[in-house]
Amino acid sequence: MADNDIKKGLAGVVADVTAISKVNPETNSLLYRGYPVQELAATQSFEAVAYLLWHGELPSAAQLAEFRAIERAHRALTAEVKTAIDALPLDSHPMDEVRTAVSVIGAIETAGVGNVLDAVGTPEQNLQRSLQLFAALPAIVSYGQRRRRGLEAVESRDDLDYAANFLWLTFGEEPDAVVVDAFNRSMILYAEHSFNASTFTARVITSTLSDMYSAVVGAIGALKGPLHGGANEAVMHVFDEIGSASEVSGWLDTALAEKRKIMGFGHRVYKRGDSRVPTMKAALDTLVAHYDRPDVAELYDTLESEFVSRKGIYPNLDYPSGPAYNLIGYDTLTFTPLFIAARITGWTAHILEQQASNALIRPLSAYNGPDERHIEEYEPDT
Ligand code: SDX
Repeated sequence: MADNDIKKGLAGVVADVTAISKVNPETNSLLYRGYPVQELAATQSFEAVAYLLWHGELPSAAQLAEFRAIERAHRALTAEVKTAIDALPLDSHPMDEVRTAVSVIGAIETAGVGNVLDAVGTPEQNLQRSLQLFAALPAIVSYGQRRRRGLEAVESRDDLDYAANFLWLTFGEEPDAVVVDAFNRSMILYAEHSFNASTFTARVITSTLSDMYSAVVGAIGALKGPLHGGANEAVMHVFDEIGSASEVSGWLDTALAEKRKIMGFGHRVYKRGDSRVPTMKAALDTLVAHYDRPDVAELYDTLESEFVSRKGIYPNLDYPSGPAYNLIGYDTLTFTPLFIAARITGWTAHILEQQASNALIRPLSAYNGPDERHIEEYEPDT
């Protein structure tokens, strides 16, 4: 096999087809089931977009009402999950907390399924499991932040839709409409992005006929990495390191001299800018105005213009979302768990799609180890 047949990182490799989303770097666009994500973020609730990703069509009013009723019925932080999180050290990483919580939910949901072939579940069961995970994650993520702050869990409020309830669960205060809108937009923008590393991980695990929960736990592990979902947390560490716009130039001189990856910039697919950034930046701008924090906008704009002019590498979605979540009041460590709460919709849509048309995912490798040799040649005393 020639070296150029090997696509390290599967860069540029088309591994399968999907009807869920289309990422188009030529037109810098992203479609969810054919709809431009910008249109969805500007007009739809995250619940409606979740329904679209799973069912292929936006819900009717009646379908959305039924969806919301089921979502509300599965919001509670269960005793088993709370016990599992409370058993972890207070300074565990929140991504490990959420990964543990999903693992506990999965072990309970698939208990009693003796034969491993039955654990995979039916399409109807897995659709139900997808909605239940979607509904359960806000309480899990918000409890983690409150626990670290020495606060008790807050009960969900059925009078609040998904985004408002998520903010209520986290801060225990009536959320402002501006904040709810910005948060809702971020969830929609983070929901789905074709065969990114964590989604592909979920599809690989699903392709072995393993269960949905195992696939989601694997996807969480992949998302944690700073080259992927962990970047939104890392962006905030960069902002904290730099401090203010006046420090950007000097900070970049050092960082680039050290050959550091600047978190929140660059993308494997988008090479002229991430299609989602303008929409998330507009949401960040509403938060900057709402909280009267022009300093955040100045640092954001200065770092972006300096880095783009020096390296020609553009921001990705994690760049505007980090400061947005910081302004809303989320701890930096909670940022990537927010990404889980959004991407659970894309992950489970891909799991369902993989199950519907499965083939075991198992690529080849080119060998570059020692030539064949034999034990008789092995002399342990030399
Ligand atoms: C997400 O795939 C998805 O769709 C992911 C995602 C989703 O919605 O699921 O969009 C979410 O993960 C966004 C990406 C978040 N990650 C970061 O912000 C981390 C910083 N970014 C880089 O690590 C990098 O841009 C990647 C990993 C995201 C993409 O890198 P590639 O496509 O593998 O390209 P590369 O790393 O080979 O970079 C090409 C060149 C290199 O220079 P050389 O070594 O060839 O000289 O560009 C440089 C890189 O060093 N480069 C950067 C850089 N990104 C690329 N240099 C400094 N800082 C950066 N951020």
